[in-house]
Amino acid sequence: MAPKLKWDDGMCGIIGYVGRQQAVPILLQGLNRLEYRGYDSAGIALAGGEAPALQIRKLAGRVQGLAKLVNTFPVAGTCGIAHTRWATHGAPTETNAHPHLDCGGEIALVHNGIIENADVLRQRLEWNGHRFITETDTEALVHLIEDAPGATLEARVLNALEHVEGTYGIAVVSRAEPDKIVVARQGSPVLLGVGPNGSGHFVSSDAAAILEHTRAVVYLDDGDVAVLRPDGYTVLDAEAHPRVREVTDISWDPATIELGGYAHYMLKEISEQPETTRATLRGRLLFEEGTARLDGLNLSAAAVSAVRRIVLLGCGTSWHAALAGRDIIETLAGVPVQVEYASEYRYRRALPQPDTLAIAISQSGETADTLEAMRAARAAGSRVLGIVNVVGSTIAREADGGIYLHAGPEIGVASTKAFTSQLLALAMFGLYMGRHRTMSPADGREFVCQLAAVPELVAETLALEPAVRAIAEQFAEAHNSLYLGRGLNFPVALEGALKLKEISYIHAEGYPAAEMKHGPIALIDDKMPVVVVAPKDTVYPKILSNIQEVRARGGRVIAITTHGNGDLGHLVDHQLRVPAVSPLLSPILTVIPLQLLAYYAAVQRGCDVDRPRNLAKSVTVE
Ligand code: M6R
Repeated sequence: MAPKLKWDDGMCGIIGYVGRQQAVPILLQGLNRLEYRGYDSAGIALAGGEAPALQIRKLAGRVQGLAKLVNTFPVAGTCGIAHTRWATHGAPTETNAHPHLDCGGEIALVHNGIIENADVLRQRLEWNGHRFITETDTEALVHLIEDAPGATLEARVLNALEHVEGTYGIAVVSRAEPDKIVVARQGSPVLLGVGPNGSGHFVSSDAAAILEHTRAVVYLDDGDVAVLRPDGYTVLDAEAHPRVREVTDISWDPATIELGGYAHYMLKEISEQPETTRATLRGRLLFEEGTARLDGLNLSAAAVSAVRRIVLLGCGTSWHAALAGRDIIETLAGVPVQVEYASEYRYRRALPQPDTLAIAISQSGETADTLEAMRAARAAGSRVLGIVNVVGSTIAREADGGIYLHAGPEIGVASTKAFTSQLLALAMFGLYMGRHRTMSPADGREFVCQLAAVPELVAETLALEPAVRAIAEQFAEAHNSLYLGRGLNFPVALEGALKLKEISYIHAEGYPAAEMKHGPIALIDDKMPVVVVAPKDTVYPKILSNIQEVRARGGRVIAITTHGNGDLGHLVDHQLRVPAVSPLLSPILTVIPLQLLAYYAAVQRGCDVDRPRNLAKSVTVE
């Protein structure tokens, strides 16, 4: 009996190479870079070379395992595709791992995305005699191509895709045309790389995977099909007409995607924050005028004045940035701001909102829920902007304008440096809006100076690392924990709790500190660490009372306060002080000890910090 179809293969990494060099080292190195996208199984297919058939190696497990497999049972050739998978449903088995083959073993395909009509396609194809061996939706694609008419592989792919509903980034090789990779994109990120001096062509789901080989990339549009050969490439539209797509130069330094002596990407990315926050601010602060230069917003002065409401959309850490951003923008610009989980907003009845500016916040720029929420906002009449880290990502390309974070590639699955850069981008946006409305030049100049000081203050905050590490050793034994904050630092409490739970698997909840007495206070005992984010701001005296309430129930308190706040030794078990800063910018500093606490607690518990269980870096399924 054919295995029951389970939807899977939502968020995966694809890499392919065709050229003059041996493909295997390029593909394995690329897969290592892409593993953050998914890491439950991996595979490789080589076309051409000496072998008469396609050569496939795959397994359930990580890229490291695939490298060993290929070492033991070598494959060779100058044209190949490879894949690392994150299954959304169904077992991560060797059979389900990509590449998938047609019945004759003549065509191999890797896929990222979800084929929505796979059931129907499968039934039809099985009726026509095709033999399916996997549980995946992807397998239908390769059988469809096998059946499709056409004199070339690209013609067959184009014809096959006419029957497909859903999202895909695919790369296909064929034994009959061994010097060619056919690529197609519909809703899932995939880009081409043009090797220097005729050294070959690449396909990848992320530029980071090919940076060592080329900085020249071509972003494909939805509906594009590309044909890669050793000596050139062609992009075709759905009607097979050639299309010209711009070649973009990627400025990232390949060194930014190396570990560079750090034990984990997460620690590296936490430590990089003085530089990444500086990069987000670079060239954007106008000291004389007391504003920010944000040309990428593409907003005229009239458009700024017309804005009556702002909607911030995001998921996970980006949603936390939005929550803090709401207070920052409302304070600086006096415009009402609404914050929405992108995953909820996309399904809400959209009221017409012509005077609304919707801003999608996303590190990856590929989060499916955020992308769809942004499209829903546009459909409701809003102008849409993006605050995005990955240059050329789908959200960045679909937005009417936006702000790039320039924080460099974030590889650790737990988002850290993107968060602090998102907060800075939102602060600059608030300043820009404020100065176009009622904020005085003098207030603007003062805020610009405060922004400019942030990278140095971030560096000072990182000096807390040894103290946080010592606390984490005790913290790691906890089963549950509570994170409390008020005002702008309530989102920081949420973010601290998210960091801890996703990488250390210690249960953590974030709460507005004053809400604790409405329920969660029942949980507090001497085994429950309570992290309280309490920098110097207008609610500081209030949060001291909340600490008293925890203390009175025997809770163990770790307080994040500000230099000059005084000694809380009588009230708390540990006090970590961050430098004094404008209260509006305090979340950028207070989150850093929480990032380090989560990191060291996870390390202490022996967790795989950069690749926590069940997660993936880019969530391209809903
Ligand atoms: O790439 P995005 O910022 O859109 O990603 C949103 C979330 O998936 C992401 O922040 C996620 O919550 C991280 N694992 C948090 O560390």
